[in-house]
Amino acid sequence: MMPSPDIFPVPLIHISETNSTNNYLQSLCSKQKVEELTVVVADFQTSGRGQRGNSWESDSGKNLLFSIVIFPEFLEARRQFLISQIISLAIKEELDTYTTDISIKWPNDIYWKEKKICGILIENDLMGRNISQSIAGIGININQETFHSFAPNPVSLRQITGKEFDLFEILKNIVLRIQSYYSLLKKGNTESIVCQYEMSLFRKEGMHRFKDANGEFLARIICVEPEGRLILEDEILNKRGYMFKEVEYLLK
Ligand code: BTN
Repeated sequence: MMPSPDIFPVPLIHISETNSTNNYLQSLCSKQKVEELTVVVADFQTSGRGQRGNSWESDSGKNLLFSIVIFPEFLEARRQFLISQIISLAIKEELDTYTTDISIKWPNDIYWKEKKICGILIENDLMGRNISQSIAGIGININQETFHSFAPNPVSLRQITGKEFDLFEILKNIVLRIQSYYSLLKKGNTESIVCQYEMSLFRKEGMHRFKDANGEFLARIICVEPEGRLILEDEILNKRGYMFKEVEYLLK
């Protein structure tokens, strides 16, 4: 990885290797007071964690592997999906500046066309009905040229554009975008967040193939409810609502 910048908009901890930046930041927060929006970025993770207990693959120094912490004590746990929404939007909008066809695959994967360019793992701590701490772990494929794992459909910015990118420049811009979406959230301006998110959704138009516990079906996306439930309408105009992991998109 390139040397860390001297000036960065938030506290930045750059380490060459850790098991997982989420674990690193979690353990730091449990030991000492950590400033909101502190970022931990690593060149390499020995056991990068993905959703559903999966691992996250990345060659050393090629991609962005980082975690950022917020303390949204004002936010009720039942509205925690808003955190996924602001993080996804910040990343999508930054990637939009380098290429077209970036979208958010519900709930919070970032896609280029039919391929995954970024994964997000958000881990929240609750205090009563509210969220005391949220660590968003983000892996974005930037400069990697080939992928080795069985991950079904990874893609990097380098593969899309043929260019090499400055990791810290992209990291800085994403952090600034997260900061500004987080201010919107603090101000209670959730309507514009929800609206932006829906506009950015993968396969937001037309009928597409999905699969739930009962098998495959064709449906279109109607909306995403505040708690994060995805509402689909199938061919016989039945509305179907799904929480995370209850439905999957069938990719082309
Ligand atoms: C997914 O499965 O899509 C989520 C992947 C999240 C990977 C990132 S890389 C930085 C941070 N540290 C981790 O261990 N995981 C997240």
